[in-house]
Amino acid sequence: MIEKAAGRILGKLLSILLVGVSLNIARAGELEGIPPELVAEYIHAVIQADRSIYSTHVVEQLQDRKVAVAAEDWKAKGALPLPAQMLQMAGQEVQGLGLGLRIRLTSLGPIYTKNGPADQFERVGLEAVAKNPRKPYTGIITEGDRRYFKAIFADRAVSMTCVMCHNSHPLSTKQDYKLHDVMGGVIISFPVR
Ligand code: HEC
Repeated sequence: MIEKAAGRILGKLLSILLVGVSLNIARAGELEGIPPELVAEYIHAVIQADRSIYSTHVVEQLQDRKVAVAAEDWKAKGALPLPAQMLQMAGQEVQGLGLGLRIRLTSLGPIYTKNGPADQFERVGLEAVAKNPRKPYTGIITEGDRRYFKAIFADRAVSMTCVMCHNSHPLSTKQDYKLHDVMGGVIISFPVR
């Protein structure tokens, strides 16, 4: 008797467990469809967090304590790389991983032409985010037999240091930036099926 009851209870428990497992599998299946817009938002959030922490807790602190300064020719000077250079380097590092993920910092009025728009999509996108900085410009582009989701996020002059450095840089193609202006865009792209 006891054995039978125990068997029934065990059977019930097992079926509850199995239903639980199958529900979880179904949920995991649903997660496959995370929209690329959201993936790009996540990546952008991490990039911006790293950039702002590097600027405030590394560059500014070491500068205030007179330990080190950030300079464009940091390698030659033994200085710290600029936040923009950190981002560009991270982009190269990520590209080297072969995931198809690409990250670039670009502008319609860049210091270096390599940071200008690479194609019509990027030009139109940079113009769009300059007008409407809250909304990233997104789209699907095809390269060979691969499809990429591409998102452009506005990059704003959040402090006067952005404005002063860019306006005074001898190679800058735009030298009348003001605080809060859109100075360019962070472009994130990755392959999609
Ligand atoms: C000390 C100078 C300096 C400061 C401060 C600075 N930048 Fe830059 N920025 C540069 C340099 C130099 C580059 C080019 C880096 C490269 O590609 O080698 C650059 C690149 C960029 C680019 C890519 C387009 C271009 O001009 O080549 C954007 C967009 C940009 N910076 C935005 C900003 C924003 C926003 C801030 C403030 C949060 C900022 N920068 C602060 C010097 C500076």
